[in-house]
Amino acid sequence: MSPLPDRVTIVEVGPRDGLQNEKESIPTATKLAFIHKLVEAGLTHIEATSFVSPKAVPQLADAKEVVKGLPVAPGVTFSALAPNEKGLDRAIESGIRRVAVFTAASESFTKKNINMTIAESLVVFAPVVSKALAAGLTVRGYVSTSFVCPYEGDIAKEKVLDVTQRLLNMGVDEVAISDTIGAASPKDVFETVGILLEKITREKIALHFHDTYGTALANVLAGLQLGITTFDASAGGLGGCPYAPGASGNLATEDLVYMLERMGIATGVNLTKLAEASSTIATHLNRRLPSRQWRRLNRG
Ligand code: HMG
Ligand code: MG
Repeated sequence: MSPLPDRVTIVEVGPRDGLQNEKESIPTATKLAFIHKLVEAGLTHIEATSFVSPKAVPQLADAKEVVKGLPVAPGVTFSALAPNEKGLDRAIESGIRRVAVFTAASESFTKKNINMTIAESLVVFAPVVSKALAAGLTVRGYVSTSFVCPYEGDIAKEKVLDVTQRLLNMGVDEVAISDTIGAASPKDVFETVGILLEKITREKIALHFHDTYGTALANVLAGLQLGITTFDASAGGLGGCPYAPGASGNLATEDLVYMLERMGIATGVNLTKLAEASSTIATHLNRRLPSRQWRRLNRG
């Protein structure tokens, strides 16, 4: 067990993972108002949108407009998904400085999500990563279904390690080990991330939890105990992957901030302002959000 850190980095994925699953089209201006408020709340790493095929995710078809409207915010890193060279070219044209490639540890999920095998996805990503790096961008990687797959069940830890190492060898600076359907328990985190940490330095690993079964915060604690200091979360607990049946929202950023601050672990995020950011989307969708802290702050 590592001593708990004094500070963690939160990667706010609400504008991308949070919104990609929403059926009702959200205007670009509303997305930008949301992102502006996330910055005001103190978030320093924000995944703003996604340069995937607009046919696959129509909600994020305005990716370029979103990036062009991002606030000038020194010290804040904005990023976006880019699944192939076409997506990367759109990302570079938009002016974003960080992109993320995403594959999985399960063949069935990779096929459903990006219509490629894992091996094919790595062949597609290699030139994406090198072109992005050559253009001065930085690159993150994701390994979806790192614990449980909606189609294949439990995932072999060795597979997660293999895919993660391949992404790192390509030049990504961080890999988000992802519980796509929110089914993992702390035991899964200790075992799988424990195996990764035998070969990979902890700074290169982030944890990305969905909260379908209510285990996301417990999983964060397991991650903290392993020495991980970067966690993804989505404002309000919005989110889910359209290609992962049964997956509900991400770990809510408000709930993560509350727990960490209460533990004396600094996040740099103002909880009240964060909940106000989430309310931008709640008001537009006319819906209460799953985050417990958002609900506590928005009684009635
Ligand atoms: P495909 O249909 O196999 O690809 O899709 P294609 O190359 O044959 O292209 C089909 C059409 O899409 C063509 O247009 C392309 O030009 C166009 P057409 O000739 O038919 O008019 N196209 C694009 N247009 C704009 N931007 C692009 C792009 N690429 C192709 N980048 C592809 C393959 C990967 C593109 C598609 O399956 C796709 O975009 N999938 C993305 C799915 C997705 O966004 N899933 C959710 C994000 S991942 C996630 O949520 C998990 C994560 O949160 C971690 C976790 O929780 O596990 C990250
Ligand atoms: Mg996700």
